[in-house]
Amino acid sequence: MRTDAETIKLTVADKSWTFELRSGSEGPDVIDIGSLYDKTGMFAYDPGFTSTASCESAVTFIDGDEGVLRYRGYNIDQLVKQRSYTDVCYLLLNGELPELEQSKEFESHITYHTLVHEQMSHFFRGFRRDAHPMAIMTGVVGALSAFYHDSTDITDPQQRQVASMRLIAKVPTLAAMAYKYSVGQPFVFPKNDLDYSANFLRMCFAVPSEDYASDPVLARAIDRIFMLHADHEQNASTSVVRSAGSSGANPFACIAAGIACLWGPAHGGANEAVLKMLESIETPDNIPSFIERAKKKDDIFRVMGFGHRVYKNYDPRANIMRETCHEVLDHLGIHNHPLFEIALELERRALSEEYFISKRLYPNIDFYSGITLRALGFPTNMFTVLFAVARTVGWVAQWNEMIDDPKRKIARPRQLYTGSQERHI
Ligand code: CMC
Repeated sequence: MRTDAETIKLTVADKSWTFELRSGSEGPDVIDIGSLYDKTGMFAYDPGFTSTASCESAVTFIDGDEGVLRYRGYNIDQLVKQRSYTDVCYLLLNGELPELEQSKEFESHITYHTLVHEQMSHFFRGFRRDAHPMAIMTGVVGALSAFYHDSTDITDPQQRQVASMRLIAKVPTLAAMAYKYSVGQPFVFPKNDLDYSANFLRMCFAVPSEDYASDPVLARAIDRIFMLHADHEQNASTSVVRSAGSSGANPFACIAAGIACLWGPAHGGANEAVLKMLESIETPDNIPSFIERAKKKDDIFRVMGFGHRVYKNYDPRANIMRETCHEVLDHLGIHNHPLFEIALELERRALSEEYFISKRLYPNIDFYSGITLRALGFPTNMFTVLFAVARTVGWVAQWNEMIDDPKRKIARPRQLYTGSQERHI
C-alpha cells in the first residue's frame, strides 16, 4: 500500500494541474479525478468504464491478468471446496467467515425468512404462462417493496439488515415459483429442515403427488454454482444496483434493477446463450466453420461464454465450473454428453487459434454452467434466474457498503454532448 501521497500532473497547452494517486490494498493505483472538472473545466470520457473505478470497495478482488478471484481476501477455489453458500453469504455481508455457531445461527435466520407473503402468489397469475422467468423476477422482486414496508427505510441499519436477509432468503423462493408457474405446477413451500440449496432444488422439482428425496451431490453442485456467482466486484448489474441505491431507493427496488441488467446476453444471459450456441453447432465437425465466423471483423457473431472485460486469463470460476459439470454428469450416469463434448472441443480449438490467443479470450464461467444446469433439470430460460439467486448476496453486500460509505453521492455521470447547438424554430 502506498503511504506517501504521490501526484500525477496533467498538462494541457501551457496549463498544468496535479491530481492525487491513490493505492488500494491490491490492484492498480487510481488517479483521483474527483476535482477534474472544478480544476480544469473538463470531464473525463470513458464509455463502459474501461479505466474507471466507480467506488472504493472491500468486498471482492479480481486480478484479471492472473485469473484471481477473492471474496474478502479468500480465494474462490478454497471457499468453494471448504465452505457452503450460506457461509459465503455471511462472509460477503460481514467481512469474516462465520464460526460454527454463527454459521448455524445465520442459516437459521435465512431459513425463517424464506416464505413469501401469501398474496404474492396472486402476482404470478397476472403473468402469461410463457413469460420469461427473468421478466417475472424483475417484477416480483421489485414488488417485495410493496409487501415489506418495515424494511425499506435505508437510514435504519436494523431495517437494512432485515431487508438483506429477506432478499437472500426470498429470491430463491420467488425463482422457484417463477419456474413452477411456467410449467403449470403448484408452488412448493420452503422446508425448514433443508439447507439453502437442497431447499431450492426441492421448491423447483418436488410435486405434491410424490415424495421428494434430496440428492446431496446435486444440492452440493448447486451450492457450488451459487458460491461461484455470489459476487464479482463492480460488474454491470452491481454497478446498476449501486447507481439505483445512490438515489436512496429501497433495497428491493435496487435489486430488481440489478436483475433487469443481469438479463442481457453480454452479462448473466450468456449462460442461456451458450447452451443455444452449443445446440446450434450440432456436431464437433461444425466447430471450425463456427470459429471462422466468430473471427470475422464485419460479423457481430461471438463465441458465447468466451472473453471477459476483466479476465485476460482463464476465468478461475470456469475451471471449477468444468469440474462441477463433470461431477454432475458422472453422478447422473450421463456419459458422452453431446453438448459437453462439443464444449470441450470448442474450447480446445478456440484456445489454439491465434485470434483467441492474441485477444486473450478464454472460457468464462458461463461456458460450462449451462450444461450443468441442464443436467440438473433446469430449462434454459431458468439459467439466468439461478445467476440472479446467487448474485443477490453480492448485490446486497455492495449496496450496504455503498450506503455506509460517508463519501456516498448520487451516481450522476456527465457526457460529451454531440447534438445540435442552439437553434431556433
Ligand atoms: N468471441 C469472439 N470475439 C470476441 C469475443 C467472443 N466471445 N469476446 C470478445 N471478442 C473480441 C471482440 O470482437 C473485440 O475484437 P476487436 O478488438 O477486433 O474489435 C475484442 O475481442 C475485445 O472485445 P470487447 O467486446 O471490446 O471486450 P469487452 O471487454 O467490452 O467485452 C464481453 C467483454 C464479455 C462482453 C465479451 O467478451 C463478450 O461479448 N463475450 C461473449 C458473451 C459472454 O460470454 N458474456 C459473459 C461474461 S462472464 C459472465 C458475467 O460476468 O456476467
